[in-house]
Amino acid sequence: MRVYFDNAATTPIAPEVIETMTKCMQEHYGNPSSIHADGRQVRAAIEGARKTVANCINSSIGEVFFTSGGTESNNMALKCAVRDLGVKRIISSPTEHHCILHTLEYLQEHNNVEIEYLSVCQKGKSTLAELEALLQDSEVPTLVTLMHANNEIGTMIDLQAVSEVCDQYGAYLHSDTVQTVGHFPIDVDKIKIHFLSGAAHKFHGPKGVGFIYINGDVSIKPFIDGGSQERNMRGGTENYYGIIGLAKSLEMAIDKMDERSTYIRSIRSYMAEQLRNEFEDIQFNGDIEGESLYTVLSVSFPPSPKSELLLLNLDIAGVSASGGSACSSGAETGSHVINAIKGAPNRKTIRFSFSHYNTKEEVDIVIEKLRKLIPTKLELSQ
Ligand SMILES: Cc1ncc(COP(=O)(O)O)c(C=O)c1O
Repeated sequence: MRVYFDNAATTPIAPEVIETMTKCMQEHYGNPSSIHADGRQVRAAIEGARKTVANCINSSIGEVFFTSGGTESNNMALKCAVRDLGVKRIISSPTEHHCILHTLEYLQEHNNVEIEYLSVCQKGKSTLAELEALLQDSEVPTLVTLMHANNEIGTMIDLQAVSEVCDQYGAYLHSDTVQTVGHFPIDVDKIKIHFLSGAAHKFHGPKGVGFIYINGDVSIKPFIDGGSQERNMRGGTENYYGIIGLAKSLEMAIDKMDERSTYIRSIRSYMAEQLRNEFEDIQFNGDIEGESLYTVLSVSFPPSPKSELLLLNLDIAGVSASGGSACSSGAETGSHVINAIKGAPNRKTIRFSFSHYNTKEEVDIVIEKLRKLIPTKLELSQ
């Protein structure tokens, strides 16, 4: 039996979501742009899904656009803000996902956009004071893009507080909420935000489908030219089955958020406790005692010859997790997040990430496997 502790990379699709999607695949095949009954049936289902998503984030229906996932939504927000809103400066963080960082590099190179990165502390946090100072400093039209929760170490921002600072200085705000949609309450009616991004596969929906929220006060042009789908913003026949799966999985995630988060938090603290009990000098990246993404436990193991190929050996032992370590030689770049928080290059980082399908028994199995792969406290004391 394998143990899947890589839910921040992607989650298994919920059986109820598979059932809903399968039924649609079997029964509906019309093109939503066709005006006949078969088309209209699919169009109505897509609009129903849009309403579901809008209800989940408390937006208007017309502010939700379906995309191919988090990467596209993030690209769309940043590139359209520069092209259509006159943004000439973007403030971000070095710990953002590569789909933000690489888009920023593109915009700097091709559109002459000035990019500023906030500094981050060892927990991966930036300060509101630094953000405020940068916003105060310049009259240039600015977009702030900061992820709600970091996918590698789980560090979170106070989205409400960031939005208030941006609002005070008239800056646009985008947040990559890919790791938090469906896991934390998000209410765009309370937060002054212009764009946010979500991806179904992070909350037990299908891969290759996501959405972007675009505040109704913001007017941008199509990101993909073609037909008039997605209110003219994204040409191309909609990923109907994906959209249905996204709405179903998000509705379930919101419905069961309290129950799931309490349970997942208990799995994560149990794992942290077992690791501390069993092994010497275990550290956790990020701010696990503070406000952080409860699905993620980023563990920093002390150097040991046995832990060199830890991720590979875990995989061989039947455990799926993710790597991420600091740069230890000029040749390898390591994880940009661990590098940004100045993680020790000789330590080994493994990210374990959980869902409500995981159990404490699985944690015990993983600890048992780790006992064979890294020295235990008991071994070291002998
Ligand atoms: C924080 C964050 N942003 C963006 C993405 C990209 O999302 P997608 O895989 O749906 O394109 C991911 C997924 O790994 C992520 O964790």
